[in-house]
Amino acid sequence: MGKEKIYKRYTVTAALPYANGPKHIGHLAGAYIPSDVYSRYLRLNQKDVIFVCGSDEHGTAIPNQALKEHTTSQAIIDKYHVLIRDCLYKLGISFDVYHRTSDPLHHQTSQEFFLNLFNKGLLTEETSEQYYDDEAKAFLADRYIIGTCPKCGHAEAYGDQCEKCGSSLSPRELINPKSTLTGNIPVLKPTKHWYLPLDQYETWLRKWILECHKKDWKVNVYGQCKSWIDAGLQSRAMTRDLDWGIKVPLPDAEGKVLYVWFDAPIGYISATRALFQELATGKNNYSTPQRDFGKVKEKDWKAYWQDEETKLVHFIGKDNIVFHCIIFPIMLHSSEEYIVPQNVPANEFMNLEGDKMSTSRGWSIEMHEYLEDFPDKPDVLRYALLTNLPETKDSEFTWKDFQSKNNNELVAIFGNFVNRAMVLTHKYFEGKVPAKGTLDELDKNVIEALRGFPSKIGDAIENYKFREATAHLMDLARLGNKYLAETEPWKLAKTDMNRVGTILNLSLQIAANLAVLSAPFLPFSAEKLKGILKLDSHNWDETGSVSLLQDGHQVSAAELLFEKIEDEVIAGQITRLNENKKKMELQNQSAVPAKAEITFDEFSKMDMRIGKVIAAEKVEKSKKLLKMQVDTGIDTRTVLSGIAEHYTPEEMVGKQVTILVNLAPRKIMGFESQGMILMAEDKDGALKLISSSDPVSPGSSIS
Ligand code: MF3
Ligand code: ZN
Repeated sequence: MGKEKIYKRYTVTAALPYANGPKHIGHLAGAYIPSDVYSRYLRLNQKDVIFVCGSDEHGTAIPNQALKEHTTSQAIIDKYHVLIRDCLYKLGISFDVYHRTSDPLHHQTSQEFFLNLFNKGLLTEETSEQYYDDEAKAFLADRYIIGTCPKCGHAEAYGDQCEKCGSSLSPRELINPKSTLTGNIPVLKPTKHWYLPLDQYETWLRKWILECHKKDWKVNVYGQCKSWIDAGLQSRAMTRDLDWGIKVPLPDAEGKVLYVWFDAPIGYISATRALFQELATGKNNYSTPQRDFGKVKEKDWKAYWQDEETKLVHFIGKDNIVFHCIIFPIMLHSSEEYIVPQNVPANEFMNLEGDKMSTSRGWSIEMHEYLEDFPDKPDVLRYALLTNLPETKDSEFTWKDFQSKNNNELVAIFGNFVNRAMVLTHKYFEGKVPAKGTLDELDKNVIEALRGFPSKIGDAIENYKFREATAHLMDLARLGNKYLAETEPWKLAKTDMNRVGTILNLSLQIAANLAVLSAPFLPFSAEKLKGILKLDSHNWDETGSVSLLQDGHQVSAAELLFEKIEDEVIAGQITRLNENKKKMELQNQSAVPAKAEITFDEFSKMDMRIGKVIAAEKVEKSKKLLKMQVDTGIDTRTVLSGIAEHYTPEEMVGKQVTILVNLAPRKIMGFESQGMILMAEDKDGALKLISSSDPVSPGSSIS
């Protein structure tokens, strides 16, 4: 494999986002922006490429969210599928198809895939003890269970994976496991499942990844794979006991569904099938074909997944590496029908203003929030992310940097150069491209530099170095700016119109090259610039030339491509971020789960009364205890209560309280407490008395 092979076609995938909530700019930086630049670049090169994605709608992530939002799993996926899809399109992510895993075609594709492996005898059936929540009456797979990660100590690792260190886990490995359904500590119960024996593919994996892809896979990806393989792979269950997901297509599998990480990557295949169904029938439910596919048949999808001359590339974030580099490839390889990915250029994570990005903690910029505030600036976000992609290590997004990338680069370099070239062309040549005269040394150097850009940018993209590619693009605009600054055509207008013509011709050619070369990165601005230049569509191949615009070609009026973003706007975003965080902190103080059910008889055994505090004092040597005399209507008795940090003795005297009078007396700090005063305790441990807001006479009973 070492040598770069020429491929007939490309299948580009971007990780299917879970439809369990809005997605943030970290997801964009991880998978969607790089895959989009790559796909757009291939299209500009006239390659036969499909770019597929869709919503991941199974797994415990979905019902977990339904629980939080007090709604159904179906309502959750319907809401977030549309939200995520629309945001991605508005940001210019040019999928040919955006499918969803709840679609029947996907259920069918996944079940067929499973049955193929099953019928080949490649899945083992095993019964084992698994965690079960007795109260919720459910097995606790994946995200239904959290605990401490045995690898990195992260306290909220899921049963299938630690999102902090990326380790893939099984629930039994978690330290202090807890059910996310009830908060209970789970019990073990036997259950039967179908396993994929990953260990049997070690030899194949070693050859495929460790030998063939040592050079062309990213160091972070290769390194993770190597350490997993070296640590020894284990068999993994491909089914779950859940009521949400794709039914296991076997007769003795009642209540069992496919593991979400079994079906989700197959979603790429289903999306491809959906695309070709729609291309063949002229429908557009899920597809938005980004190029002319010509006449195709439904079954043509197969070439994109089963022909060795197809280059399959998966764009993902680092938390998905094990699934795309080990598990899914084993599924594909063992099927004996499918090709395996040629590369998996996974990105690291993007942090935000000094902290990890997280929707649930409110520390994130959600795509829809950005689009609400900057509806006409998708390219600015794309650019700010592209220049800062976490390609080799975690990176950081700050609003200040966003502002500076916009003001100091897009506006001051790119936009400014194009605008100057346009304004001068209108001023001196009525908006017509002037002819070139004799070229001097400077012109020749500029032309030579210009010629180098398409391959510099293209090579970087083909090697998944999108930051570098973006930097080259801005360098082309810099070249133009510098050329104008050095030649100062506005000073020559009186004396040497010929020279001005040459300078503006070359400047306009640079602008035209920018229009074509920026298209993968800044698709909206590129379109606008093409409009300004009245440039017909061009291939990548033709760029680097100085004849994209013919002499005498009429251009349109100058228009600003980018506009300055003021300090107030940025300050507003930072305020919003901090407010979101506070809001989520409050929301996350969820109530502790309910206790086990009791009968009415059990309830009525409790004798609760309204009482009145007639004396109160602190208990010596105790920070927490107050000793009170309470008039219960029946008698006056001594009650000790741990409220000294919340109420002073003076405050308590005269207060009406609720008291449990038939609680067996208890000795506390040497005093006998003859009852219990009822309190409400919030998440922070703050205590508040419970009583009636109206005066009630002591002794009144509560029922
Ligand atoms: N939904 C997963 C996540 O957000 C990604 C699924 S990628 C696929 O982490 F391959 F499974 F589709
Ligand atoms: Zn971990």
